[in-house]
Amino acid sequence: MQFQTIPFSPPFIDNAVIDEVVDSLRSGWITTGPKVKALEAEIKQFSKAKEVLCVNSWTSGAIMMLKWLGVQAGDEVIVPAYTYSATALAVIHAGAKPIMVDVGEDFNISVNAIKESITSKTKAILPVDFAGFPCDYEAIMQLVTTNEIQSQFVPTSSVQEKLGRILVINDAAHSLGAFYKENVRTGSETDVAIFSLHAVKNVTTAEGGAICLNLPSPFDNKELYTFLRQMSLNCQTKDAFSKSKAGGWRYDIVGLGMKINMPDVNAAIGLAQMRQYPELLSERKRIFNEYNEAFSKLSWAILPPSILNEKVTSYHLYALRINEISEIQRDAIIDEISRKGVAVNVHFIPMPMLTYFKEQGYEIKDYPQAYINYACEISLPIYPQLTSEQVSYVIDSVKSAYQTVITIK
Ligand SMILES: Cc1ncc(COP(=O)(O)O)c(C=O)c1O
Repeated sequence: MQFQTIPFSPPFIDNAVIDEVVDSLRSGWITTGPKVKALEAEIKQFSKAKEVLCVNSWTSGAIMMLKWLGVQAGDEVIVPAYTYSATALAVIHAGAKPIMVDVGEDFNISVNAIKESITSKTKAILPVDFAGFPCDYEAIMQLVTTNEIQSQFVPTSSVQEKLGRILVINDAAHSLGAFYKENVRTGSETDVAIFSLHAVKNVTTAEGGAICLNLPSPFDNKELYTFLRQMSLNCQTKDAFSKSKAGGWRYDIVGLGMKINMPDVNAAIGLAQMRQYPELLSERKRIFNEYNEAFSKLSWAILPPSILNEKVTSYHLYALRINEISEIQRDAIIDEISRKGVAVNVHFIPMPMLTYFKEQGYEIKDYPQAYINYACEISLPIYPQLTSEQVSYVIDSVKSAYQTVITIK
């Protein structure tokens, strides 16, 4: 095995991406404008969401949606303990308390744990499609619409009153392109779903997020899109594009908004990627299957969830787990893999193990499955540019690292 250097997740930048960005730079308009509109249309068409609004990150989008919902001190929002911390930090920024619950062996939030955690203070649930594998939305949407749960709901804002039940926001940061049901992609399954377009995601705008709106009647998703677009621009009645036109200087501020719009120069990257996303996704699938083929032959390897009934992953992460190893052994295996020049990662350090959340009183002992998943997990490189030869090198590096660590244990 000849030494190679394999990064974890470089962005996909080809000539189409560069041309689209240059086109934005040359157009004389670099902030929110036609490229953002075009990206929203691509994501809407692809995911079949009713409306799509692009913003500057998943995190800012989630804060805005919770503010729109009108959460306040004393309100609770249910999140899995096993996620990137933005899921819970958004809840805190919006003024509510994250109620962390444990996950299942498939890494995703446990629907039973959600049920046990719902109280009259619960205003929203934020399930996370870990690594791109969708949660059980049929069960979650059914749960929030049962008479028993709906009758406990105490609305404290006009939006909550209109909805009359707990809002479900899919943290779809990883799952653009996944199917949660046959021929139904994520983005259309819950009241709100938010994709992250951060630099390491399947489709990126360097930083960015796409908010998918599928609110039930009597909400009008088109009207809501217009309202939220304004909210993402400081609740200013005129965007910069209209204001820049001759005679268009006067505007008003009609509420307390946020300044989280996506610039066109960023949208250009994602736009060029979205146009070729079906091909990029099938390259990810190729790599995922090459890993599966190799690791399914090894008794110590636990393959990540990918296809179950009608659910299909977006192949965002290859979250390998290793049977019966300790966290210390996992760390040693990662050190060995790194010595071979392969960058791997761990998704995720459960939030109750991080200082800020420990200070808030969360304890990992309350989330045993999250700890089990974390302690033996190693995320392997997966992106369209990775050749099959490089995939073999990663596989060999993992195998030899395992042998080195486990024989010296
Ligand atoms: C599960 C999950 N939720 C939310 C986020 C936050 O996304 P962003 O960086 O776009 O704010 C991430 C980012 O990695 C994530 O992995």
